[in-house]
Parts: sequence; C-alpha cells; structure tokens
Amino acid sequence: MGSTVRLALPRDAEAIRAIHNHYVEQSTIMFDMVARTAEAQLVWLEAHVGGYAAVVCEDETGTVVGFGSLSKYRQRSAYNVTVEDSVYVAPGRTGAGTGRLLLAELVELARAHGFHSIIARITGDNEPSVRLHNWAGFDLVGREREVGRKHRHWLDVVVMQRMLNDAATGPVEGPPGRDADPGT
Ligand SMILES: CC(C)(COP(=O)(O)OP(=O)(O)OC[C@H]1O[C@@H](n2cnc3c(N)ncnc32)[C@H](O)[C@@H]1OP(=O)(O)O)[C@@H](O)C(=O)NCCC(=O)NCCS
Repeated sequence: MGSTVRLALPRDAEAIRAIHNHYVEQSTIMFDMVARTAEAQLVWLEAHVGGYAAVVCEDETGTVVGFGSLSKYRQRSAYNVTVEDSVYVAPGRTGAGTGRLLLAELVELARAHGFHSIIARITGDNEPSVRLHNWAGFDLVGREREVGRKHRHWLDVVVMQRMLNDAATGPVEGPPGRDADPGT
C-alpha cells in the first residue's frame, strides 16, 4: 500500500509543527518569521475543520510526510466564496508525489464544500510549488513584487487560481456583519 491522505487529527500536531517550523526557519517560502509553539499548533488544528480543512499524508509506515490546508482567503464576507490552499512536504520527502496527493485532496474538499475558487499565494522563486499548482489546474493570475522581506531577500508573491465551478455564487456567502479586515 502506498501513501494515503486523510483529515488531520490532534495527534498529528507535532508532525505538522516540525514540518511547518522547518520551512519557517530554513526557507523564504513561508513568510512567518517565528516558529510555531505546540500550543499554537493545537489552536491551528482546532481552527482547521469543515471547509477550512487540514489534511496529512502518511507513508506506508504511518509516518506523516506532508500536510496541507484550506484557509480563509480574506476576512471580509464577500470573499467567503474563495479559499486559500497551503501544501508542505517534509524535507527529504519532496519530489515523490506527496504534494500532488495532498493538493488533489484539497481541491476535492474545496469543491465539496462549495467554494467557487482556490487561490495559492506562492513565493516568487518557488518553482516546485508553481509546478505543483500548474499540474493541479491552477493558472497564474498575478504577481506582487517585493511584498515581503526575509533572510535579507526581497520576496515576490505569485498568485495562482483554480476555478471550481461555473456558478455565479457558491453556497458559502458569509453572514452579514462587520468586516474585520481593513484591506480590500
Ligand atoms: C512544493 C511541494 C509542496 C511540492 O510537493 P512534492 O511532493 O515535492 O511534489 P510532487 O512530487 O508531488 O511533484 C509536483 C510537481 O513539483 C515538481 N517538483 C517537486 N520537487 C521539485 C524540485 N526540487 N524542483 C523542481 N520541481 C520540483 C515536480 O516535478 C512536479 O512538477 P511536474 O508535474 O511539472 O513534474 C514540496 O516540494 C514542498 O513542500 N516544498 C517546500 C514547501 C513549499 O514550498 N510549499 C508550498 C508553499 S506555497
């Protein structure tokens, strides 16, 4: 039996955290600067349920070799038809199809929860992630120039998007209420 993808559980917290913190500390592909604590990881997992799912990929020995998630794209209610994906494969386990398994599952989960499109925001020079998203049917829709700085490098963000259905609106319009995000 090969690798399998399933919804993340509380017992996956430390495996997810180890992968997350590796890329926080060792790379510019993540814009976070500070490693995630064990407590913050549990909070993150509790928040990633339902349409904002977290998934893990286990190899044949049951070792978690990658994780992915769907997150709120923006706070303002009208953006609720859109979701943002993230995929991270453990160092040393990349290039073996794990990213594809994770992203394919996230696309299906997003579709099943009625989202209209998925956005990926990728550091400009992250060729593996751009290729992964190309494979999954995402198109390049924009480039934000030097919007980040980490490890003494200016960071572009490329934005890729996959539409999920032809409906004008999805069933996930947010409740009326105050908009929390001062952005657009
Ligand atoms: C990006 C990432 C998720 C891809 O997952 P993966 O398991 O390594 O990739 P897969 O084996 O499923 O292959 C998917 C695509 O990535 C490409 N790829 C994987 N590793 C690569 C590398 N080192 N260099 C170039 N392309 C690479 C594959 O060739 C394939 O593209 P193709 O269909 O054009 O051949 C993974 O490499 C990773 O976690 N990288 C570090 C974290 C990261 O960048 N996450 C994304 C943040 S937006």
